[in-house]
Amino acid sequence: MKLLLLLFLLLHLQICASFARVMSEYQALLSVKSAIGDPQSALASWNSTNSLCSWPGIACDSTGRHVTSLDLSSLNLSGTLSPDIAHLRYLQNLILAANQLSGPIPPRLSVISGLRFLNLSNNVFNGSFPPQLSQLKNLQVLDLYNNNMTGDLPLAVTDMPNLRHLHLGGNYFFGIIPPEYGKWEFLEYLAISGNELVGRIPPEIGNLTNLKELYIGYYNSYEGGLPPEIGNLSELARFDAANCMLSGEIPKEIGKLQKLDTLFLQVNGLSGPLTEELGTLKSLKSMDLSNNVFTGEIPSSFARSRT
Ligand SMILES: *[C@@H]1O[C@H](CO)[C@@H](O)[C@H](O)[C@H]1NC(C)=O
Ligand SMILES: *[C@@H]1O[C@H](CO)[C@@H](O)[C@H](O)[C@H]1NC(C)=O
Ligand SMILES: *[C@@H]1O[C@H](CO)[C@@H](O)[C@H](O)[C@H]1NC(C)=O
Ligand SMILES: *[C@@H]1O[C@H](CO)[C@@H](O)[C@H](O)[C@H]1NC(C)=O
Ligand SMILES: *[C@@H]1O[C@H](CO)[C@@H](O)[C@H](O)[C@H]1NC(C)=O
Ligand SMILES: *[C@@H]1O[C@H](CO)[C@@H](O)[C@H](O)[C@H]1NC(C)=O
Ligand SMILES: *[C@@H]1O[C@H](CO)[C@@H](O)[C@H](O)[C@H]1NC(C)=O
Repeated sequence: MKLLLLLFLLLHLQICASFARVMSEYQALLSVKSAIGDPQSALASWNSTNSLCSWPGIACDSTGRHVTSLDLSSLNLSGTLSPDIAHLRYLQNLILAANQLSGPIPPRLSVISGLRFLNLSNNVFNGSFPPQLSQLKNLQVLDLYNNNMTGDLPLAVTDMPNLRHLHLGGNYFFGIIPPEYGKWEFLEYLAISGNELVGRIPPEIGNLTNLKELYIGYYNSYEGGLPPEIGNLSELARFDAANCMLSGEIPKEIGKLQKLDTLFLQVNGLSGPLTEELGTLKSLKSMDLSNNVFTGEIPSSFARSRT
């Protein structure tokens, strides 16, 4: 009798296990919904009376068999993101921005190998960045702006070779900027502003030759100044390194940034004479160098610039 019971239990366990492995996208979505607080009943029509491809926030592939996009932004959702999201194996876009979702970012997201666009900005996700997500080799956009993430500024993101847009700003990441942050071949947008970063700005940043926008300031408190390699960022149009304890002189290499239209370096400890080269920046429209400790005269090149 006991043996029979054991056998029965084992069988049951096995059925449960295989069930979990093949959880359908329908079940996965209902599981995701059940972990979410939905005060505006935005997800009320996520039910069996209609096809899931017609549910609000969902887009399917052309055959109507697989969910490829989930966009639940700005719906005032609370609660957590269920790890069952990982059963949406065909997902390419996941956008949960501008809600009040909390708890960890599920490490199992890493199995959605086709994920290209992940926007979790403006929530209260916390904990550290799951290193497993380095498996998302197709990810092009990762936006975690304004959450409650902690831990070291993640290294795992540097193993996502296809990133174009990376926003980690407005969190509680600490530690240094790893030199590996110079690795991305295609990166056009990098924001790590508004964290608790320290240490020197790594010269490897100068390797990001496709970078158009770079935001590193506010609340971060670096050691030393801007590396001259910053002048290698020939595509750079916007650079904001305000309020982050920079010292030393502005490197003259900054004069090589002929596409720069916005330069914010205010509220730092930058010193020395104002770099003559600043006046030669042809594209510059907006510049703030206030609240530093510069000495000497305004270079004559500034008179010719239109700012
Ligand atoms: C199911 O969704 C439909 C809209 O598609 C809605 O009219 C109906 O009230 C929903 N059922 C439940 C039980 O929420
Ligand atoms: C969002 O939810 C909060 C409570 O969680 C509520 O006070 C607020 O009015 C809601 N906003 C909208 C637009 O429904
Ligand atoms: C992510 O979503 C927020 C809020 O909707 C939006 O402002 C932001 O532009 C989005 N990020 C990207 C990279 O599209
Ligand atoms: C994340 O937030 C939740 C709820 O606010 C809290 O219980 C949990 O301890 C936090 N986790 C971490 C790692 O900070
Ligand atoms: C986010 O983190 C801050 C600072 O640690 C804390 O004060 C706040 O309560 C956190 N918010 C949530 C929703 O956990
Ligand atoms: C930066 O580029 C140089 C020369 O192209 C290369 O030797 C170095 O390994 C690169 N560093 C990183 C972190 O990618
Ligand atoms: C990058 O900048 C450094 C310092 O200004 C310079 O020595 C080096 O030649 C530059 N590399 C490239 C590839 O432009």
